[in-house]
Amino acid sequence: MTPGEHYRRNRYRFRPVIAPPAGWRVAVRGIGRGETAPDDLSSVGTRPAGGWGAPGGDRVAVAEREPLGPGSLSLADRLVVVTGAARGIGAATAALCARLGARLALCDRDPLGGAPEGAITAVLDVRDDDAARAFAARLGRVDVLVNNAGGTFPADFAALSPRAEAALIAENFTQVTAMTRLLLPRMPQGASIVNVTSIEAHQAAPGFAIYAAMKAALENLTRTLALELAPRGVRVNAVAPDAIPTEGEESVREAMLAASPAYDPARVPPLGRLGVPEDAAAAIAYLASDLSRFVTGTTIHVDGGAHAAGGWRRVRT
Ligand SMILES: NC(=O)c1ccc[n+]([C@@H]2O[C@H](COP(=O)([O-])OP(=O)(O)OC[C@H]3O[C@@H](n4cnc5c(N)ncnc54)[C@H](O)[C@@H]3O)[C@@H](O)[C@H]2O)c1
Repeated sequence: MTPGEHYRRNRYRFRPVIAPPAGWRVAVRGIGRGETAPDDLSSVGTRPAGGWGAPGGDRVAVAEREPLGPGSLSLADRLVVVTGAARGIGAATAALCARLGARLALCDRDPLGGAPEGAITAVLDVRDDDAARAFAARLGRVDVLVNNAGGTFPADFAALSPRAEAALIAENFTQVTAMTRLLLPRMPQGASIVNVTSIEAHQAAPGFAIYAAMKAALENLTRTLALELAPRGVRVNAVAPDAIPTEGEESVREAMLAASPAYDPARVPPLGRLGVPEDAAAAIAYLASDLSRFVTGTTIHVDGGAHAAGGWRRVRT
């Protein structure tokens, strides 16, 4: 049987045109979720001049072109884990994923009273390793992990105690690496990880030095993990929000302004309005779904253009 016949017979949605070097396995996503293409993909094609194959190799798989539709955004039969899901962006993400058909596993240090029906819930601090392990043990296969929990408070770098700094590092970075490591063994080929970072990862943030540095670390981790996990068919991306008033964002902003800072961040982004948590949830759902099946190691800025604006401030409509 030729490789082409093999793929047609097995109804793979993805067709290898160039096979991997010896010892490599090509991750084939699509109908055969969790399946792996056979090693022997020889005589299926040749590498184009100049090459676009895997590093050091000359064989890769490409997707067959198929029409996309509303079903491409479906999360039916997928388990989506959202940390920090009691309110704000996490709650909006849980609600949207439920509407897209996902089963949910949600955690937060606050009660998850508004969780969609049927969701697995846990009240825990994501920095608590034992609690996170117990939460993970309740889950089966995990298709999507949204590392959303995070937060900060304003404080000058010089005034920050070592204890406060450690708390900020755990809150915005270490808990993400811990949760990701815990859940990775449960993630099949085709799974997706979305890390919620911040515009502060991409610019100076006076009064929020450690928070911003940890979100920047998360951005870099996102890119490295995208490469490390690509051979397993697991995608890793980030969503960097700004200007989305939530309970957390508002309280931090109020505390910052009360401390009369030397700098006042621009409030209204180029699009001329503030965002809502659903705006960030939409980007997260896209990255969770098959619509983004060729997207990994990147960041979507959900900020009304604030990141693009840099030092520019809109002064008229
Ligand atoms: N809203 C924005 O404009 C904005 C801007 C930049 C970054 N972010 C990021 O988006 C994410 C969500 O923020 P939000 O605006 O929805 O804030 P929010 O404070 O309204 O919601 C955060 C949720 O996470 C939970 N949480 C926080 N730390 C936790 C912990 N250690 N253990 C368990 N639960 C915890 C909180 O209880 C809360 O329910 C955060 O990572 C935040 O840094 C938001």
